[in-house]
Amino acid sequence: VPGRPATIVIFGATGDLTRRLLVPALANLCFDGLLSEELNVIGIALRDGDDESLRVSLDEFAPQTQCWQRLRQRTSYLPGDFTLGTVYERLKQRLGEDDAAFYLATPPQFFGVIVDRLADAGLTEEHDGGFRRVVIEKPFGHDLESARALNQRILSRVNESQVYRIDHFLGKETVQNILVARFGNAWLEAVWNHRYVDHIQISAAEAIGVGTRGAFYDTTGALRDMVPNHLMQLLSMIAMEPPNSFDAEVIRDEKAKLLRAVRRITPDEARSDAVRGMYAAGQVNGQMIPAYRETPHVDPNTATETYVALKLMVDTWRWTGVPFYLRTGKALAARDTEIVVTFKPVPYATFRETPVAPLPANQLVFQIQPHEGIDLGFLVKRPGPQVEAVPVALDFAYAEKFAVAHRTGYETLLYDMMKGDQTLFQRADQIEAGWAVVQPILDAWARGEGVLEEYTPGTSGPRAADALIARDGRQWHALGR
Ligand code: BG6
Repeated sequence: VPGRPATIVIFGATGDLTRRLLVPALANLCFDGLLSEELNVIGIALRDGDDESLRVSLDEFAPQTQCWQRLRQRTSYLPGDFTLGTVYERLKQRLGEDDAAFYLATPPQFFGVIVDRLADAGLTEEHDGGFRRVVIEKPFGHDLESARALNQRILSRVNESQVYRIDHFLGKETVQNILVARFGNAWLEAVWNHRYVDHIQISAAEAIGVGTRGAFYDTTGALRDMVPNHLMQLLSMIAMEPPNSFDAEVIRDEKAKLLRAVRRITPDEARSDAVRGMYAAGQVNGQMIPAYRETPHVDPNTATETYVALKLMVDTWRWTGVPFYLRTGKALAARDTEIVVTFKPVPYATFRETPVAPLPANQLVFQIQPHEGIDLGFLVKRPGPQVEAVPVALDFAYAEKFAVAHRTGYETLLYDMMKGDQTLFQRADQIEAGWAVVQPILDAWARGEGVLEEYTPGTSGPRAADALIARDGRQWHALGR
């Protein structure tokens, strides 16, 4: 609010997320002139220290600009235990009537208790058109039931309009671009349905292994870590109905509606349409990766998956009969996050003499990372006496078209949050709809069903995932193109 001092209070100020993402994002926003010069930052964490020790610990993670120098002077430290009331009383004195956003960059077991303590201390009450907001990181819940319970607990203390649940995929330029591409291009919408689309693949492949995150990852696994949140966001953006405005609630309604239309997987389908894998020891890009089971802080007998592939159906007028294949995993051949829309073949093969038959299908690829862009596979005639149709790419690369500065993705999210725009944040019902999609698979795996297949690092994952899609006469888009 112009003219009113505002503060971002970061719970978990000495943690990894604050250092690697929040501080660089704040410094970048400041550099871009998008941060109020009056903004204060208060860091809270358990460890002893003072303002200067926090500033010094953040220095190496911030770009060394004048902006950061200014921001660091406005950054202060409040040591304390998040579960006890005392730190909240001290916080209350420091904040006074300022607008404030409480950023919960803590392990998830603290989300509920921090909101309770904030509310107990009267810190979540909004005065005179000012704001008090709570920003919550993932993982939001461990399954459907715990996500529901956490939503209930939080919403018994604050209003939904005060809650900003982060999904950092929504801060990526190319993810936001999905909506502009879909709803800004008339020709695309005309073919965006079961009459023209054969199937859609959504992949989030990573080349790195679990590394130092063993303790967190082993209780989470690829399904919980990536699917109800990031992949469901991609699915809803690629498949939702056109919103009739860019209003936050309208967009969030459409996304939630789409997720609710994902067909519930039956216990039989949980065995046949979901594949899980775990990487063995091996090399990725010439670098040795230890087997997942030998990763520090991972149980040597663990059954946690590092890869998952799924087939989902979406029961709407638009998507009836169109399968959505999703996959994500660690230690794969390449880092590659993409959505591939494969169109149906032409109805009649005019070029019968073509030596390559059948004609390759048109594919539209939203390349989300690492090389952000959009590719459309387009058939053209190869020069020569014969009529031979070959696919070429009409490709758009962000980096070639625009001068894109390196950004973390958190800039947009922090900026929108401070402005009070909830479009890119997950509402309670979206979170629960995402968990509802994966819950039958979690249940089946908890019963010990579904084979956990080992895969070799540097490959495209378990063989069962290839079989899952080959069964329908299709194949995965090659990783790393
Ligand atoms: C996080 C997951 O939410 O997303 C990580 O916890 C994963 O396991 C990461 O590596 C992927 O994000 P990005 O932006 O690197 O694709």
